[in-house]
Amino acid sequence: MKQETGQVDLLRKSGYSDKAIDYVINRVNVGEIEEPDACVAYTGPCGDTMQIYLKIDNDRVIEAKFQAIGCAGSYAAGSALMEMIKGETLEQAEKISVDEVINHLGAIPPPKIHCACLAKRTLEQTIEQYRSRTEK
Ligand code: FES
Repeated sequence: MKQETGQVDLLRKSGYSDKAIDYVINRVNVGEIEEPDACVAYTGPCGDTMQIYLKIDNDRVIEAKFQAIGCAGSYAAGSALMEMIKGETLEQAEKISVDEVINHLGAIPPPKIHCACLAKRTLEQTIEQYRSRTEK
């Protein structure tokens, strides 16, 4: 418990909003989906990797989870993006911008903005995989 408080303090001092801290600490939308309709792992220029799992029905995201080998920024952005795409069509999901992810979070440290790019790029590739599998 003490350790969690320490982490919360550190995240707050680093510039993460309360919502972002909640996402990071509680690992919101972190996990795997069994038999996903699409699943892609992508490594960004920073060397961190995100993997996204989607369940899709009628071109709509019905379940979204992710895993990351990455920083607090990647967890905050991944949680936010998964939250934002649930219930959306693939077209709506891929249109969500990095700025919208940051706005959803409220605040993350400016040097961590590229971590939201990692989440967006991974999602784009996951959707691409789904389309290439289904549009044959
Ligand atoms: Fe690589 Fe944050 S530093 S995703």
